[in-house]
Amino acid sequence: MDGGAAERPASAVAAPPALIEVRGLLTVMAGTVIHRDLDLDVREGEMLALIGGSGSGKTTLLRMLLGLEVPAAGTIKVFGHPLGRCARIDLECVRHRWGVLFQQGALFTALTVFDNVALPLRELKSLDPGMIETLVMMKLTQVGLRPEDGAKMPSELSGGMIKRVALARALILDPQLLFLDEPTAGLDPDSSKQFVALIRALRRELRLTVVMVTHDVDTLLALADRVAVLADRHLIAVDELAKVARLPHPFVSNFFMGHLQRCEGQGLAGFRATLDEAGGPA
Ligand SMILES: Nc1ncnc2c1ncn2[C@@H]1O[C@H](COP(=O)(O)OP(=O)(O)O)[C@@H](O)[C@H]1O
Ligand SMILES: [Mg+2]
Repeated sequence: MDGGAAERPASAVAAPPALIEVRGLLTVMAGTVIHRDLDLDVREGEMLALIGGSGSGKTTLLRMLLGLEVPAAGTIKVFGHPLGRCARIDLECVRHRWGVLFQQGALFTALTVFDNVALPLRELKSLDPGMIETLVMMKLTQVGLRPEDGAKMPSELSGGMIKRVALARALILDPQLLFLDEPTAGLDPDSSKQFVALIRALRRELRLTVVMVTHDVDTLLALADRVAVLADRHLIAVDELAKVARLPHPFVSNFFMGHLQRCEGQGLAGFRATLDEAGGPA
C-alpha cells in the first residue's frame, strides 16, 4: 500500500500521518478471540486514552503495539515499521523510540532506584559510567525525585514514588512515544493528581505522543485528547471525550455514570467545567 516506503532512505520519507497504524487486527489468546477487525491510528503528538471493561483486552492491545504478542491477522505499524515483519535489529531501533510504564510499575525489587533507571542505558553498552550517572540524575530530577532517592530500594518507596521511578526508566532513552498502562491505578487521590500533573507537564515539555490505558475518569479528563473505547472485541469509537461520553453503549454509560453523578446532573456541561478546572488536555 505504501509502495515500499520502508525501503527508501529515511531522509526521503515524509513524516508518517500516524505514529501507530493498526489495520484489521485479529488477536487470539488461548483459542479465544480478544480483538477482531480492530483499526486504530495514533497521531503524532496526541494523548490517546484507551478505555474498556475489565478483561476487554486493553493490556493485550498495548502488548500487541509493543510487539510482545503476534497478531493472528492484520497489521500493526509503529513509526511506519510493520512490527511483525521487522527484522530483529529494526525492532530494537523501534523499541528505543518508545517507553513503557507497566501497570504495576514493574521495578526490579533487587535493584536500587538508580540501577532500575540506568538499566536501559546500560543495555546500550555504549555509555561510560559517568555519562550514565549524569543522565539518570537528570531523569530523576525531571520526574520530581531527589538525587539521593537513587540509592533507595523499591521496597522503601511510596506508591507515587514507584510510579515516578518507573516513569523515569520509561523516559531514560528520550522516547517519542510513551505507553502508560493504568498510570494512576493504586494511588491515593493526592498522589494520583500529582502524577497526572507530572505526566501533563512532561508530555508538553518532551513533545511526547502518549497511549494510555485508564479506567479513571479524572485522569481521562485531565490528559486525553481523544478516547478509544474497546468493547465487543473492537474499538467502537475513537473520538473526543465529549463525543465518546454520549455514545449509547452500556459500557460507556456505566463508565461515565459515577462522574456524571458527581457533576450533580449537569451532564456534559459538568464535564466541561471539570475540564476547565483541570486546565483541559495538555
Ligand atoms: N497470555 C494469555 N493467554 C490467554 N489469555 C489471555 C492472555 N493474556 C490475556 N488473556 C485474556 O485476554 C483477555 C483480555 O485481557 P487483558 O488484555 O489483560 O484485559 P484488560 O487489560 O482490558 O483488563 C482476558 O480474558 C484475559 O484472560
Ligand atoms: Mg489491563
